[in-house]
Amino acid sequence: MGRLGARPGEPLAGPALIHPATRLRGELTLPGDKSISHRTLMLALLAEGESPISGASDGADVRSTAAIVAALGAAVERIEESGPNVRYRVVSPGHARLALPDLALDCGNSGTSLRLFAGILAGLPGTATLDGDASLRRRPVARIIEPLSAMGATLRAHDQDSHPPVTVTGHRSLRPIDWTTPVPSAQVKSAILLAGLVAAGTTRVRERVATRDHSERMLRARGVAVRSVGDGAGGSVIEIEGGMAVQAIDERVPGDPSAAAFWLVAAAVHPDAELTMRGVGVNPTRRAVIDLLARMGARIDESQTAGAAMAPDDGIGEPVADLIVRSSDLRAIDISPADVAAAIDEIPVLCLAATQARGRTTIRGAGELRHKESDRISGITAGLSALGARIAVDGDDLTIDGPIRLAGAPTDSLDDHRLAMTFAIAGLIADGRTSVARPGSAAISYPGFFSDLERIRA
Ligand code: S3P
Repeated sequence: MGRLGARPGEPLAGPALIHPATRLRGELTLPGDKSISHRTLMLALLAEGESPISGASDGADVRSTAAIVAALGAAVERIEESGPNVRYRVVSPGHARLALPDLALDCGNSGTSLRLFAGILAGLPGTATLDGDASLRRRPVARIIEPLSAMGATLRAHDQDSHPPVTVTGHRSLRPIDWTTPVPSAQVKSAILLAGLVAAGTTRVRERVATRDHSERMLRARGVAVRSVGDGAGGSVIEIEGGMAVQAIDERVPGDPSAAAFWLVAAAVHPDAELTMRGVGVNPTRRAVIDLLARMGARIDESQTAGAAMAPDDGIGEPVADLIVRSSDLRAIDISPADVAAAIDEIPVLCLAATQARGRTTIRGAGELRHKESDRISGITAGLSALGARIAVDGDDLTIDGPIRLAGAPTDSLDDHRLAMTFAIAGLIADGRTSVARPGSAAISYPGFFSDLERIRA
């Protein structure tokens, strides 16, 4: 059995040094979708019996989740696959037979593990503590403590209940709530839905901007009654019936569109590029980065993945597609607060695309980026400015003027995987040498990123 739990970043001693590429060609096998990999492991814990999973991300975040699933009482076997992803075989006694070990559970760098497990722990008897690394300890948790406490669980956290570690005392039966999320957040929505599994009645979450709906699709696929309706204004109302068992199913995790985003931008901004990615998740609540790049003029061809089921969007399965992206002539666009919520993880790499687009790109209402693995507004501004970009911040808004010829310079990932990969992609088009300090953080979501980067420049 492979080792569970977080592993150190890629074996990159000092900074990564990136030189410009004369051409970019090739086909990439992406890591399994991180959001779906977390959820499939967690739902396998809640389902009684055996849940086989293939194509799961082998990033450090998902490993943290796998280790916690094992600590909570499931047998978890990690099996290497050919390619970058792994299979898991999870055998669980099922929700009704789980109890909390009076232990600290290490979420590493993973906000998704911490927020979603808080929802699961709220519905199990006993007490456990969710903790993580220095970055995770700076991330806000009041947003989950409030609804889960309203449901009847007891949660305590550092700094007057605002930061991890979070100690949860749960119960097998919770009160249903009707909750409007103040900040669009799939993690908060999912934590409430997972606690709603043991609520005595219907739990309702209202979001002003619809966020990724993997939890809803995956719960439905496992026999739980979850309904979502649009509110007609871009938001949605999601309802879950308490008291239903989560059934064990087989899951094949699609390629991560958030990982695809780096290559979409790399090829779009490079003068001689053509890159292919197969089996990429194109769930309507995740594909905003593809659509925003298309609005900027990126040449992206999307076709159905051979062998994949037709993608009738029945709100249960996850639609997948093959993507081919070529060198493009980009133009500036306006990115609204709703676009930011829909492409929350891809905004850093979209900022890089904007440096190569004709005109002024505006990004409005990006304040939530300050609460990610790093303060991504200051991190992206510092890194791209060092490379010569014209990027300005005004409160929660950004403006980027392009096109600008970037010049290689030192940048710093701040130990944030999405910044590490964005600056490395910038290095493919910047003159001279770009260095990325703390590049190992890429392995949080994309362990083979730097090898793929070398391969496609061949
Ligand atoms: C995620 C939700 C988003 C995203 C994160 C993954 C998820 O976080 O940034 O990378 O899997 O639910 P928020 O819910 O905090 O926006």
